[in-house]
Amino acid sequence: MVEEEKAEDAVDEELDVTTIAGVGAVTKQKLNEAGIFTILDLATSGPAEIADATDWDITKSVEVNNKARKRLVELGRLEPDFVSATDLLTRRRNITRISTGSKNLDDLLGGGIETWAITEFYGEFGAGKTQICHTLCCTVQQPIPEGGLDGGVVYIDTEGTFRPERIMEIAQNRGFNPEDILSRIMVARAYNSAHQELIVKDLGKMIEKHKVKLVIVDSAVAHYRAEFLGRGTLAERQQRLNRFMHNLLRTAEVYNIAVVMTNQVQSAPDSFFGDPTRATGGHVVAHTSTYRIYLRKAGKNRIARMVDSPYHPERDSVFMLNERGIDDPSEETSKRK
Ligand code: GTP
Ligand code: MG
Repeated sequence: MVEEEKAEDAVDEELDVTTIAGVGAVTKQKLNEAGIFTILDLATSGPAEIADATDWDITKSVEVNNKARKRLVELGRLEPDFVSATDLLTRRRNITRISTGSKNLDDLLGGGIETWAITEFYGEFGAGKTQICHTLCCTVQQPIPEGGLDGGVVYIDTEGTFRPERIMEIAQNRGFNPEDILSRIMVARAYNSAHQELIVKDLGKMIEKHKVKLVIVDSAVAHYRAEFLGRGTLAERQQRLNRFMHNLLRTAEVYNIAVVMTNQVQSAPDSFFGDPTRATGGHVVAHTSTYRIYLRKAGKNRIARMVDSPYHPERDSVFMLNERGIDDPSEETSKRK
């Protein structure tokens, strides 16, 4: 235990913000007050956030942000800006995956939810978005040979729909220890968009401390939609969403973790000519999500489709919701047994 603690401290020293030239004790304090503790945090914060925290101008903030990235590359914790295509292929081969709990859905995703990426599930109410998130909370904790990443979870709940009881049910029906599963899920209830942004900005310590391999945001856009009403506020809303999405993506890349977010679809009251099958959040969300999966209901089954991916099959994948969370349709499940 003592040995472990020592090891943890050693890592912390290596990542201390003062290891970056130009960051002294006074600046360190200011950065800490803004939730920036390590160079990983420095690298994931945008220059504007660093400038806000330190009173530096943007040029100096960009410089320090770059230095932090460079240092992380030296430490082998981040890929350099330019890598050869061969290295890129190797890196892509090293991307790990989390099983969703449904073989069909895993196949659609090319083997499961990827680390180093944002996977977005969108669809109407009751489509199963929250149920997918709950199931992933259990599956990600499994050992690697069993489809998990032996990792903890951060669950950012913006709608108040996280249910520990449901996690226990899913865990039990999958033969996992419900108490163990619950203890490795850190839940943050985000009450508004600013709160949600703050939580994501402060994720670094949580990820390191709890060996988090999956960050869930259920749902990502709802607060923005509720708070920014009317055409006049659209530009600001998109700007804020953009920053939020990029923070999420940087977090996925810097820590090599999977990010899963849910999103709703446009409905008539929101925009008069809204397409009911289009995700909310516009181009900002569409362009930042690495993978987008559209979910729809078909009786007791659910149908998933990968949207806009050049190298995933363009076909529908069927799953269902039951006591195991999400699962393959019963005929297929019984076939496999
Ligand atoms: P919104 O958040 O409202 O947009 O919907 P969502 O896509 O998150 O839906 P969610 O994942 O909450 O799915 C709701 C559906 O899951 C319900 O219609 C139920 O069919 C099913 N469901 C929810 N809880 C349970 C449960 O405890 N057991 C079972 N068997 N099914 C459940
Ligand atoms: Mg939901």
